[in-house]
Amino acid sequence: MLNHLVDIKNLDKKQIIELVEMAKAFKNGNLQSSVQNKSMMTMFFENSTRTKCSFELAGKRLGLNILDFNVPQSSLSKGESLKDTLENLYFIGIDTIVIRTGENGFFKNILNKMSHPLIFINAGEGSKAHPTQALLDFMTMDEKIGELKDKKITIIGDIAHSRVAKSNIELLNKFEADVHLCSPDEFKDNNIENATHHSNLPEAIENADVVMMLRVQKERHESLGCDFKDYIEKYQLNSQTLERYAPKAILMHPGPVNREIEITSELLDGTKGKTILEQAKNGVYMRMAILNTLLKNVRGK
Ligand code: CP
Repeated sequence: MLNHLVDIKNLDKKQIIELVEMAKAFKNGNLQSSVQNKSMMTMFFENSTRTKCSFELAGKRLGLNILDFNVPQSSLSKGESLKDTLENLYFIGIDTIVIRTGENGFFKNILNKMSHPLIFINAGEGSKAHPTQALLDFMTMDEKIGELKDKKITIIGDIAHSRVAKSNIELLNKFEADVHLCSPDEFKDNNIENATHHSNLPEAIENADVVMMLRVQKERHESLGCDFKDYIEKYQLNSQTLERYAPKAILMHPGPVNREIEITSELLDGTKGKTILEQAKNGVYMRMAILNTLLKNVRGK
């Protein structure tokens, strides 16, 4: 049974497939909520558009009571510890809390401290994990190209600072995809195994089934370790390059996109760019599936 959703590591293939099937059933209108009137709170310590809005809409569609924790106006600013805050929120009536944090290791630390069964959902954790993004990406790939075993999936950009890359790599390896990463040395993560590292973009995307572009995570760099002009020259993707080296590939990006840095506007606004908006749409259905699964066994308050 799934108690929290904080890392792809904690999910097995069967649980992932069940979440995807449930998300598809919600998308097709074939499934009703099992969790009406349970309570969800969003607590975002970092900015978000897609993740926060899609959790809120997913919760509304499931008939949840939804609250947003206003960080600057909360009693955290009066010195209350996060553990005390969270335990009070549980007793106020919150069943699940969707948290985005800049702190790597946040969920491991807080789960070790908690003595009440508040359900945690990781909505993005530093450069470490973004499991709900990886799940919605998996759903999108499954819809577009089917089974991922031996499919070539190339992830390009700031791998070292990207939580999306980490969670996707974890998930793709569970399904035996052929994972390729492409970045300049400054953005390479040498701790990542089970993936082929490249520094040359055409070589990395050659005959790929999926090309996933990433934003340079400027907010996580103490100083930008590379020259942007040089980065654009070597790692920006345009239609011509994609068509030449990976004509059958679907194009993905978790968003937000920095136009004309990692990807050109003509590529983003063309046919291939449409999958990126489908990812955002699938985010709502995947988050419905996650909430419906986690909250099913919550006791009434
Ligand atoms: N992909 C993603 O996490 O986007 P937001 O930062 O807008 O939530």
